[in-house]
Amino acid sequence: MSTEKVEIFDTTLRDGEQVPGCKLNTAQKLKIAARLDELGVDVIEAGFPVSSPGDYQSVYEISKLAKNAAVCGLTRAVKKDIEVAAEALKYAKKPRIHTGIGTSDPHIKYKFNSTREEIIVRGVAAVKHAKNFVDDVEFYAEDAGRTDNEFLARVCTEMIKAGATVLNIPDTTGYCLPEEYGRKIKYLKDNVKDIDKVTLSCHCHNDLGLATANAIAGVMNGARQIECTINGIGERAGNTALEEVVMILRQHPTLNLNTHIDPKFLFDTSCMVSREMGMFVQPNKAIVGANAFAHSSGIHQDGVIKNRETYEIIDPAEVGVTESAIVLTARSGRAALAYKAKKMGYDLTKLQLDQVYAEFLNYADARRCVEDNDIHEIMEISERKIRAIA
Ligand code: KIV
Ligand code: ZN
Repeated sequence: MSTEKVEIFDTTLRDGEQVPGCKLNTAQKLKIAARLDELGVDVIEAGFPVSSPGDYQSVYEISKLAKNAAVCGLTRAVKKDIEVAAEALKYAKKPRIHTGIGTSDPHIKYKFNSTREEIIVRGVAAVKHAKNFVDDVEFYAEDAGRTDNEFLARVCTEMIKAGATVLNIPDTTGYCLPEEYGRKIKYLKDNVKDIDKVTLSCHCHNDLGLATANAIAGVMNGARQIECTINGIGERAGNTALEEVVMILRQHPTLNLNTHIDPKFLFDTSCMVSREMGMFVQPNKAIVGANAFAHSSGIHQDGVIKNRETYEIIDPAEVGVTESAIVLTARSGRAALAYKAKKMGYDLTKLQLDQVYAEFLNYADARRCVEDNDIHEIMEISERKIRAIA
């Protein structure tokens, strides 16, 4: 079975930038966009051009900069939004307009005070208007996660007829279970005429911690684009994390799906986005967190020192992390202490290790972690004690 590509649509600079207090200026956005292009993302959603002059400028500049990725601008299903986005994208080698409207009953009733029929009419008009400017038009059915599948299939059928090339099925509120989201994608695959002529896209939010699982369920059921952000940043609890979906597809070759992403840039890109946004990455974050390749319990440390694969499914070098970390704490055993001490130039005999280990435990009990400098001190204290006895 040949491997199929899943397109990576990065929305760090649009949905990701909706994190309160994390606004980026144009220079910062250009720096991140250049890195995303190098990383191998297929689409960069560069902003929402009509929303502010700053966003317009960023989309305009990123359009000129991107060498490989398509550049995308978000719009509502509003003529003016679409025209402003088209203008901002005019220098892009591969421009995409991303337009859409809410399709769930709460959105139709409370946001638009409208009807299902009217929503389809507005969506079709938006797609057709966008087609006057670009070939590549993505339609989002906002809150598709809570949209009735039968109605969603009608929406999709009409958007394909209007010329959409990509259909985005957002779980805007992060409500769906993976099995439910996967079933939704499969329902569309089975019930929408000409669905194989367009790309189905997963755009999942993390309100219940399921954004990555839902996106994976989506591609397992026929979607071929994932919308995601670096470090999973985004509105509220965030979006699907790019680094997670990329590594899941690499770790599970039986899915027969892969991406164009070069994983060796993942860690660096995560650090860059965190720095530029002033947004700290939680230490236990999968793939890129400070503890993702750190081992602190004695049993795990002993295993990893014997062979990394005992407790690591990913070689840290694959994602650009220099090496696994052995963190010395009061839970560490002799193997970890000997390993660290050797790295620092102390080749201990079994007897010496027993003596130093006793000292190490006293030291470690009083601290969270034992750092490299502490090891020198532990060695000196042990040596002094041994000399005093002799
Ligand atoms: O979450 C969402 O529905 C969105 C759309 C605007 C694509 O971000
Ligand atoms: Zn979103």
